[in-house]
Amino acid sequence: MLYYKILSLILVQVVCTIQFQVPFSLGSWPEKTSQQHYSQIDSKDHPVNLNQYKDDYLIRIDYASNPDLGKYLITNNGTIKFNKWNKNVKQQTIDIQINEDNMSKLLQEFNNDVNFKVIIEDLSQTVFETYPKNLIQTKDEDVLINSELFFQDYRNLETIDAWLELIQLTYPDIINIEEIGETYEHRKYKIVHFTVPSEQTLDGHGDRRTIVITGGVHAREWISVSSVLYSIYELIELYKIDPQSKIFRDLDFIFIPVFNPDGYEYTWTTDRLWRKNRQDTVHPRCFGIDIDHSFGYHWTKSSDWACGDEYSGEEPFEALEAKIWEEYLNNTNSDHKIWGFIDLHSYAEEILYPYAFSCKEQPRDEENLLELAWGLAKAIRMQSGTNYQVFAACLDRDADLLPDLGAGTALDYMYHNRAYFAYQLKLRDTGNHGFLLPPKEIVPVGREVVASLKYLFHFLVDQD
Ligand SMILES: *[C@@H]1O[C@H](CO)[C@@H](O)[C@H](O)[C@H]1NC(C)=O
Ligand SMILES: *[C@@H]1O[C@H](CO)[C@@H](O)[C@H](O)[C@H]1NC(C)=O
Ligand SMILES: *[C@@H]1O[C@H](CO)[C@@H](O)[C@H](O)[C@H]1NC(C)=O
Ligand SMILES: [Zn+2]
Repeated sequence: MLYYKILSLILVQVVCTIQFQVPFSLGSWPEKTSQQHYSQIDSKDHPVNLNQYKDDYLIRIDYASNPDLGKYLITNNGTIKFNKWNKNVKQQTIDIQINEDNMSKLLQEFNNDVNFKVIIEDLSQTVFETYPKNLIQTKDEDVLINSELFFQDYRNLETIDAWLELIQLTYPDIINIEEIGETYEHRKYKIVHFTVPSEQTLDGHGDRRTIVITGGVHAREWISVSSVLYSIYELIELYKIDPQSKIFRDLDFIFIPVFNPDGYEYTWTTDRLWRKNRQDTVHPRCFGIDIDHSFGYHWTKSSDWACGDEYSGEEPFEALEAKIWEEYLNNTNSDHKIWGFIDLHSYAEEILYPYAFSCKEQPRDEENLLELAWGLAKAIRMQSGTNYQVFAACLDRDADLLPDLGAGTALDYMYHNRAYFAYQLKLRDTGNHGFLLPPKEIVPVGREVVASLKYLFHFLVDQD
């Protein structure tokens, strides 16, 4: 009896020691206990007004056998009200957020010839579960210094800023945060330089090839923001192990974790499902331009109106964030030779290569562009088993159906004008949670992104 007691005490101790010493191993992470239902919590303690979603469902519609329906949903041009979340190119499905009234109208319109299933029934609760349980996080230093804690939840802008500041303080030689502009709501537009100094490159760049990694262009795609932060974290870890790595000698990095700070903040305070930025438009009551329809390569004004999710603005680079970035690139043109541009989005598990604006335009050096895309997908598959599909971005955007759907992307602009290789990665999942990916996926997805980035880095430095 006593023997067992002692044995179990020893075991408990061993387990505890292991938990404290293993610095960053996923398997040992505690699962978050499941959350309460939001309706049992005083609404003044809700992160945002959750009732705004309570009549809506996320519905997946298979339009493979009904192209008219597909076209109707993709162009979102009729009188039936719904929000398009995503389209899956391979499955030929489209996910829409819709209430019961409008769903029955849709069924009527298509004589009940609609193949669908409900993906998220309790949208308010699913939204609720993406926020950290403890919203007052910034004061909590533990969260900032303990990466296990930090990557356990999505983080608001204030916490992200504090974390970035901390890593800049901790690694002043390699991390430099630069403020390159100001958003409509007067937030600083920040980019993170990651450059390991070396004797050969006194000016900080030398002949290095620059890699640019961006997230949060679309505000609600939180997993893209956490994945950029996770990539910074892992790159620092890599640096600590192997500071002499060829990767750091031949490459430097620009990370933009939150490309759309105003929109991101809005998803934390007002509407979790907001997509655009928050600047004013031609319509006095409608705010926000879709930044990814604002870049000035083959820009076309969207048919979506100013209140719509895909509003392009009235002219290219009207979205301040797109303009700030272009201005920065203009001013530093001679400093950076950008070899890779990776723009993280969600969701679909897809690697998209240029062009988005048209399927008729052939990308230059297509063979290498595709080879690298397949390599990124393979690196992810080997890391986690998740199978990312590789597509031309125009297929994802349905540019052939309606040209403005594919116009004005960061992908096309960067590829055509600035970067040798450029991709948009649409991260997990394929729709069970969509934009509302549970926080326990932050690290697994982060690891997928890091696996693909490492492949990209080696592809570039081992080539010659
Ligand atoms: C959008 O709807 C209008 C009016 O119903 C129609 O004239 C137009 O052709 C539609 N556009 C597309 C791309 O379906
Ligand atoms: C459709 O949705 C809108 C907005 O959510 C709502 O105002 C309207 O009553 C719904 N029903 C129909 C039949 O349009
Ligand atoms: C950047 O440079 C291009 C080419 O010189 C110019 O057309 C464009 O207006 C510049 N953009 C900004 C925001 O200054
Ligand atoms: Zn996106």
